[in-house]
Amino acid sequence: MVVGFSAAQAQAQAQNADHRQAQVEGASHTDIDAFLKLMTRAEKVGQLVQRMGGRSKALNSRLGPEELDRVRRGEVGSYLHVAGAGPLRELQRVAIEESRLGIPLLFSMDVVHGYRTIFPVPLAMAANWNPDAARLHAEIAAREASAAGLHWTFAPMVDIARDPRWGRIVEGAGEDAYLGSRMAEAQVRGFQGGDLSARDTIMAGTKHFGAYGAAEGGRDYAGAEAGERSMREVYLPPFRAAANAGTASYMTAFNAVDGVPTTGNAALLRSMLRDEWGWDGLLLSDWRAVEELMAHGVARDRLGAATLALRASVDMDMVADVYAEDLVAALESDPSLEPLLDEAVRRILKVKRDLGLFDDPYKYHDSARETEVMLTAAHRDAARRIAEQSIVLLKNERQVLPLARDAGRIALVGALADDALSQLGSWRARGDAADVVTLRAALEAAHPDVVYASGAASRSDDESGIAEAVRAAENADMVVLAIGEDYDCSGEARSRSSLELPGAQQALFDALEATGKPVVVVLTGGRPLAIPEVTERADAVLAAWLLGVEAGPAIVNTLFGANNPGGKLPVSFPRATGQVPVNYDHLPSGRPADPDLSKDTARYMDAPVTPLYAFGHGLSYTNFDYGEVRLSAAQIPAQGGAISVTIPVTNTGPVAGDEVVQLYMRDPVASVSRPVQQLRAFARIALDAGERREVMFTLTSDQFALWSLDDDWLIEPGTIELMVGSSSDDIRKRISFEIAGTATGSIAPAAIASGVSVSGE
Ligand code: BGC
Repeated sequence: MVVGFSAAQAQAQAQNADHRQAQVEGASHTDIDAFLKLMTRAEKVGQLVQRMGGRSKALNSRLGPEELDRVRRGEVGSYLHVAGAGPLRELQRVAIEESRLGIPLLFSMDVVHGYRTIFPVPLAMAANWNPDAARLHAEIAAREASAAGLHWTFAPMVDIARDPRWGRIVEGAGEDAYLGSRMAEAQVRGFQGGDLSARDTIMAGTKHFGAYGAAEGGRDYAGAEAGERSMREVYLPPFRAAANAGTASYMTAFNAVDGVPTTGNAALLRSMLRDEWGWDGLLLSDWRAVEELMAHGVARDRLGAATLALRASVDMDMVADVYAEDLVAALESDPSLEPLLDEAVRRILKVKRDLGLFDDPYKYHDSARETEVMLTAAHRDAARRIAEQSIVLLKNERQVLPLARDAGRIALVGALADDALSQLGSWRARGDAADVVTLRAALEAAHPDVVYASGAASRSDDESGIAEAVRAAENADMVVLAIGEDYDCSGEARSRSSLELPGAQQALFDALEATGKPVVVVLTGGRPLAIPEVTERADAVLAAWLLGVEAGPAIVNTLFGANNPGGKLPVSFPRATGQVPVNYDHLPSGRPADPDLSKDTARYMDAPVTPLYAFGHGLSYTNFDYGEVRLSAAQIPAQGGAISVTIPVTNTGPVAGDEVVQLYMRDPVASVSRPVQQLRAFARIALDAGERREVMFTLTSDQFALWSLDDDWLIEPGTIELMVGSSSDDIRKRISFEIAGTATGSIAPAAIASGVSVSGE
């Protein structure tokens, strides 16, 4: 960072007394209203401004003398894409010592799945169905990021995504509102800890508020058509769960829902999020989203865009400088905005206070701590364990996996097996490809006889390397084939119109399969792929996503059985691109799909309607037996009722393993048509060979509510069917109970966590 000093410095230091006055006027804490009284209108607007301190790949690169003068003039509230305890201490010092009021800056970055220790991409992390792991990852990310001077991450990304063409599906927890809610709250708790002012916690920036994941056609930034019921029941619950977990900030989505661009949507943001939910944190726009209100066609000019966003209660403008340049004019033409400005400033100062920045603005800038905490052995160990838990065994014919230690010669094929950068996935903060242990490195270290051939680059149509890979396979006992997508196929603006294998990889698979050698596919990437041609013919398939710095060891441990895979899909895999969306919790049809008997049903002529792999699917090297399910009651009242569902699960196979016990519900007759299945509880349990445990889920009547025809949460009388199983399409036990009476619910059912207790734990 270039730090310049200007003549304004001395003058500003003298004026800094005002800051102390504001501190003193407050009782034991900084009195925000005392600050507000001292602030000029320009200084207030300055707090609403977030500027680029650099680029995501060139951090701090924009912090030149002119930028520092802006800080001295009190024109900036926050920076993004900045990092480093030392440089940020100096930047903070300028704000504290050289601006008139000495208000601290907020430093932010996208720390999405790790800061230096990179964990599995979020979609993979959701595949472990283990909120404790999601929380642990966020704690570690916060420890590292806070040591590098950061206060704020733009994570978790909690957008529900049902269209895998959308590249940003990799950043979230998949298709389900209940699983998504558990992952959202776990990460918020992990980032923020119990105390936002602790020096090793950071503020969560839950994003992208609204229905960004419903972008039409899976095209990034496209509008969404989501009705009020879908919004309430599907897209918003993870945001609500994040609010309940205390998220101190949200980011608005770029896109429009039902024609209303979210960043100017007062009904969604001010009326619902603020007034109805009672949430009073910092609401940040996404990158230039305030300015983009013009491109959306709801604001004529920047003044209009600023007005719309402020009215919608967007507190901070990310990088567009619309607030910086046009809000003063907007305030002059419309004095009714003045209290809205004060309100926004108050919320921003409040998070600065809650982070402890008024008490000690330098607490996050300890260079010694910065070197100590990065990528420690313990952090790496956590990254490996979480990566292991994220792997999903999609198929395992004739128990080809786990491999025996004397598996003979293994032909390892595929450019992705040797692609360190890809394992860092989209948003890699300070992740470094040199830190990654690849599948190739790990397999060569673990097994004495490995022959590697790239075969085909993951995105190129060049088939010239396939012959060499075939030769390697012919001279080996088996093939481990890493295919799928590299890191740059998923993420922001990385939507695809086809979900097939990119480049020549299908040809590579076909050629290797034709050798007759057993083929184990290690499927890499950040989205579900439609690859029936592979899954039908491969002997085994592991969904290994993009797993972070410990990808290689996690995959190798799984191949050889040191890790028994226990992950489950957080999103359905389609058979063909044209089948999406293929989410499990669809509505029933008046004419349910019947592939054989009748044409006039909800079917495709040319493909089954079922997914290639269903939501919740994931095999193990052992087997689990589900015993009889018991209920605590045959009937519960709609008002304040609760029910417990108990199920014994036994590991009947030869090795220890994890099972994710899944509880789904259906309300078969209601005032509105209800999904055929909805996840309402789950528990990932570890069982030794032969071990039996009982899982008890406790649900409240609120969790059976629907968004009613009267626009409210409503619990209706009648039967509720429950399904317990190993996957949404592997239901082992069914049971039902009655709800008596009617009641209004409080919040979205999916946002409410079921109680879980496991015998012996
Ligand atoms: C993305 C956000 C991200 C922001 C800052 C935007 O383009 O949509 O998710 O937090 O950039 O990097």
